[in-house]
Amino acid sequence: MPAIPVVVENRSLSELRPQLLMLPGPTPLPQAVLQALSGPMINHRGPAFAELFAEIEKGLSWAFQTEHRVLMLTGSGTTGMEASLLNLFSPGDKVLAVSNGSFGERWGDMAAVYGLEVERLVYDWGKPIQTQDLRSKLQADKAQTIKAVLIIHNETSTGVLNPLQEMAAIVREHGALVIVDAISSLTSTPLPMDAWGLDVVLGASQKGFMVPPGLAFVALSAKAWEVHAKARLPRFSLDFSLTREYAEQGWTPWTPPIPLFYGLKVALQMMQAEGLEQIQARHLHLMQTVRAGLKGMGLELMIPDERQASRAVTPVYPPPGLDADDIRKSLLEEYNIVLGGGQRKLTGQIFRVGHLGYQHLPNIWATLIALEQTLKKRGYPVPAGISIAATDPDYEY
Ligand SMILES: Cc1ncc(COP(=O)(O)O)c(C=O)c1O
Repeated sequence: MPAIPVVVENRSLSELRPQLLMLPGPTPLPQAVLQALSGPMINHRGPAFAELFAEIEKGLSWAFQTEHRVLMLTGSGTTGMEASLLNLFSPGDKVLAVSNGSFGERWGDMAAVYGLEVERLVYDWGKPIQTQDLRSKLQADKAQTIKAVLIIHNETSTGVLNPLQEMAAIVREHGALVIVDAISSLTSTPLPMDAWGLDVVLGASQKGFMVPPGLAFVALSAKAWEVHAKARLPRFSLDFSLTREYAEQGWTPWTPPIPLFYGLKVALQMMQAEGLEQIQARHLHLMQTVRAGLKGMGLELMIPDERQASRAVTPVYPPPGLDADDIRKSLLEEYNIVLGGGQRKLTGQIFRVGHLGYQHLPNIWATLIALEQTLKKRGYPVPAGISIAATDPDYEY
């Protein structure tokens, strides 16, 4: 008989302590969501699932601020990005990919893989997009060969929030589709899909929705649906028409990750109880607190101007002479606090404090104080509590 495994065997105390997940996704999960995830398996072609599906669809349209149906695809955010290319274009179509970080670059690369002609508007990582450049590019396209502009709303790799509303207005004047990766901005940041005239908006479950990874969300405007009808790139499991056809019956075309639907239902109820404006205000305040605290410690933020700063994540440079990944490692080992690292060319150069989803002030305070301690131990002088003293303690939720 094999021995029954003892869960705590070979695990350090720090592993068993609750972890503070300060990432821009996956984010911590509310207890009610965790409980919901353990619901029973049901028939995904039965009435109970259809009822669950319909309630979630309504909740998602609320979160996207759209009257359109929000499709749910099994997969991560990248699945949604890929699906939007497959469903909206034909081989050789031209798109303009705007980038100021890793995700923007990757989306352009992905479009090229599928045989699209990719024009780029590229900025150094973390540098703000100049809307005048976008206007000039599109005005130069007199024959309207650019079919769509790919925009990352919140560039999670560099913590820069792009001026989406203004960009969308410029793209609409030209006539191209406005396709938005809102994967790390949805719910935390104002993003009224219909009011801003966005054609495609993408989200992912593990970000501002407080559920585990595994679902991608995609909403399309009426114009995007028309373009989809003519798009000829090959696709099968990610086909939007098929997904919509099944959604009309309360189902997904393929077997869905049923536990995520249980969790999402509860998470959306929690979000609706809090209110979209309040969620956004909470994230704004968390971002302001993190920024003030880090600056209070004397650290340099990657995005100096708060108006261009992400409400999901704050990237920061380590003090001179210290390595960003070393700092992250000690926070993990000594306090069980997880921070994001720099991606690709920023590896080791920055660390990123996530403040997205199920987050509140005490988590931020704990992170700031632990960071103070870590830096002090590494010879960087930080008077105790200076970061918290730099934040606004009078804020009321
Ligand atoms: C802006 C943005 N786009 C795309 C992705 C990719 O999402 P996923 O890792 O869920 O595929 C992420 C993930 O962090 C993101 O933040």
